[in-house]
Amino acid sequence: MSESTFYVTTPIYYVNDAPHIGHGYTTVMGDIITRWHRQRGESVWYTTGTDEHGEKVLRKAEANGVTPQEWVDKLVEEEWRPLLQTIDVANDDFTRTTDQRHLDGAQAFWIALNERGAVYKGEFSGFYSVGAEEFVGDDDVIDGEDDDAGFKVSKLDGSRVELIAEENYFFRLSDYQQKLLDFYEANPSFIQPESARNEVISFVSRGLRDLSISRSTFDWGISVPWDEKHIFYVWIEALLSYATSVGYHNDRERFDEVWPAGIHLVGKDIARFHAVIWPAMLMAAGESVPHQVFAHGWLLVGGQKMSKSKANGIRPDEIVDTFGSDAYRYYFARALTFGSDGSISWEDISARYHAELANGFGNLASRVAAMIGKYFGGSLPAAGATTAAEQKVIDVVAEAVAEADAAIEAVAPQDALSAIWRIVDELNGYLTEQAPWKVAKDDAAGDRLATILSTAAEGLRVLAVVLNPVTPKASAVLWDSLGAGPALGALADQRIDAVAAWGQLPVGATITKPASLFPRIETAEE
Ligand code: MSP
Repeated sequence: MSESTFYVTTPIYYVNDAPHIGHGYTTVMGDIITRWHRQRGESVWYTTGTDEHGEKVLRKAEANGVTPQEWVDKLVEEEWRPLLQTIDVANDDFTRTTDQRHLDGAQAFWIALNERGAVYKGEFSGFYSVGAEEFVGDDDVIDGEDDDAGFKVSKLDGSRVELIAEENYFFRLSDYQQKLLDFYEANPSFIQPESARNEVISFVSRGLRDLSISRSTFDWGISVPWDEKHIFYVWIEALLSYATSVGYHNDRERFDEVWPAGIHLVGKDIARFHAVIWPAMLMAAGESVPHQVFAHGWLLVGGQKMSKSKANGIRPDEIVDTFGSDAYRYYFARALTFGSDGSISWEDISARYHAELANGFGNLASRVAAMIGKYFGGSLPAAGATTAAEQKVIDVVAEAVAEADAAIEAVAPQDALSAIWRIVDELNGYLTEQAPWKVAKDDAAGDRLATILSTAAEGLRVLAVVLNPVTPKASAVLWDSLGAGPALGALADQRIDAVAAWGQLPVGATITKPASLFPRIETAEE
């Protein structure tokens, strides 16, 4: 049997929306988790992509005078793929719901469901929000106010709803209430964090209604294979992309290596789709259910959920252009608790950039390299006898690495980074206490000076490796500056589980002063 793969996904984003830092948030966290697992030596597969069907896209394309296919192609190429470069994401695949593999796979899935008796035809009458691409229950519909006066709106997100009455196909979701509750009970980590788990369990406990899964009044979607007049409801189709992009229909061998998914990362707004409808669909089709759905919180800007409609949406490149992609990735992973809502601000980004990245980490790297250059001609000296101070550095490093690894396992990147920052603080404190610039004045203490600087260089080696998933560009510069490559190999091949073993940089390694990892930035706000 081939090795199983840890499969990580982001939601597939609505192609119509301009990418903002909310989308960037999920995608960067997925990338950090993926890169970390890779450096544990695991086989990992990371997929993101776009959700391209539905009435909203169709209307937007018509309003722009182009076909829906032309419209989505343009957005994917001009907005969504470039986002990944902006935030330096190393995804393995980019899945589009207009891909042929998805069209074929989605149809095959629904044929399987139909054959198993999980689908029936019925009359749907109720409210639908095109803005949210969601059916909205009568209890959640209220009269609109202000701009929406005279319209009905959804209580859930304020979007306008329309009353529709059409012939639809339904999925027997109501059959799955008890099966899902039993599943949550047997798999407590399936939906995390606890707040999302509780919300989902209480929602399912209140009862599940069969779900309308098709639309028949427009045609921008995937047709129901046995009844071409219908297309699948966009959400139902979108969830399937997690399976169709890894061979569900066209490569069963690959599918079995990757499936079930290891972790679906989602915002809490869409946890129910992933933790209720999706597992029920998979159970109905006889496929295994993913190991985990992790629902993170909302980014708040000025205290409000950031969204395009509130005009407080921030584009990732606004931040990256000023601070760089590494700082962007670091900030979102460090400053927020993954799983809770969190406020972000330009001032906070700037403050953390300067205190933690520039002064804490970048400065440390350049000082150590500069001293090895000055006192040892840029060649790593052999350490002499060690003292309790060196042992403390070694111990702090080993503990911090183990803690960071456990934090990533628990999907808590913020905790991983605070553990790693104990290494940064320890090394800075160690240098202050040992004061190598003073030791250098004593000709008889050359051995001691060598011990101090080689210990600091080893600490930097560890930082380059464990920060590589978060700040890959700075880590690569540091790795080069430590002259580590020739002896130890590529940075991405350095294993987290072996990184704390002390003394890996070879004596004589060529150490050069790195270009400033995080140069000071004067921002308009300062
Ligand atoms: N197309 C669906 C998902 C289908 S997945 C099978 C969709 N797309 S979306 O473009 O609206 O993206 C939603 C996701 O974007 C959220 O789940 C979350 O991951 C991210 N975010 C959007 N706004 C956000 C914030 N303000 N804060 C944090 N994340 C946010 O729903």
